Amino acid sequence: MKLSDIKSSEAERQDYYAQLRSQHITPAWIGGGITREPKSKAVPWVWHWRDLRPQAMRAAQLVGTEQAERRVLRLTNPELPGLSASNTMVANIQIVMPGEIARAHRHSGSALRLIIEGKGGYTVVNGARLPMAPGDLVLTPNWTWHDHANDTDGPMIWLDGLDTPLVRMLEAGFYEEYHKETQTIVEGAGSPFAKYGEGGLRPVWEAEPATRYSPLWHYPMSQARAALERLAADRSGGPLDGIILEYTNPVTGGPAMPTIACYIQMLRAGERTQAHRSVCCTNYHVIEGRGYSIVGGTRLDWEDKDVFTVPTWTFREHVNDSDRPAFLFSFTDAPVMKALDLYREEAKGGVYDGSSETRARADRASGHDVGLRRDGAAGSAARP
Ligand SMILES: [Fe+2]
Repeated sequence: MKLSDIKSSEAERQDYYAQLRSQHITPAWIGGGITREPKSKAVPWVWHWRDLRPQAMRAAQLVGTEQAERRVLRLTNPELPGLSASNTMVANIQIVMPGEIARAHRHSGSALRLIIEGKGGYTVVNGARLPMAPGDLVLTPNWTWHDHANDTDGPMIWLDGLDTPLVRMLEAGFYEEYHKETQTIVEGAGSPFAKYGEGGLRPVWEAEPATRYSPLWHYPMSQARAALERLAADRSGGPLDGIILEYTNPVTGGPAMPTIACYIQMLRAGERTQAHRSVCCTNYHVIEGRGYSIVGGTRLDWEDKDVFTVPTWTFREHVNDSDRPAFLFSFTDAPVMKALDLYREEAKGGVYDGSSETRARADRASGHDVGLRRDGAAGSAARP
């Protein structure tokens, strides 16, 4: 057996290719399609709050929530054809003005809201009223009814993160409008935070959810900040990203939603994280702070409320060159990659695969002590 050495003329091959084209068939040997490593069309990019806020306010002057199902500005990666910030996930800015509602609907795409401005508005998810305050994370997972309302005297503005590009690519999207504009708030059912917000404690009388998303739809900033500050005081943290916490599903210990993992990270004054990359795209929101990130060799300067994106398999490192802590929220499609056995990560200058052996080695080298998540996956040390 050996490789064959069949020869043909250029004219013969071109004639054959033309026949194939007419029959909608493509010879794979001239089409490419497999790359040595992931190469995203998306580019590293930052959207500054100083640009975003005035445009959100302008949108509120031009378009009502009667005309726009959602008054949303999509952050658009300059190199992506699909009008999204990253390959599989959108990052949008949504504004709801005083007295306005955004009517109830549901869809296959999963969504998160990271509140940027305004305190006292609320989101209703499957009848539960969730408060919204700056820095809070609110989930509206796939196929949950959700509507928003602003009963305050100032604008409510938040970051929307959704997996809609992924759902569209999979051709799996459904959408439905509620039979009235707003849901009736279910009194006496108990808030998701009261039932699931205490971390290690969960209500015994609640049946295990049939859905894979977190039943805790509201993660207050006050709780996350306190946890991060406790860890900072304890000089804890991982070798790659320092002090970073994942918002987990309190029932499974896994990601908040099957398609999107969410994180919050504290960069202490003067801190610089280690450059690393992973097979997942990541969108960041600067809850507060000032600094910069080196993403694929590009410096992205950021400050309070900016948004920036890191394409897949692109080295990123974060620098807080200010004299106050910085808090970064981020969300990634890592759960999708892990579910499909496509996930990899590495630190610059050395493979860091997240295995317990590698993690233990890195922990010993850095003097850090990092725990395992309940599903056995790597904890913060191996975070994407
Ligand atoms: Fe929605």
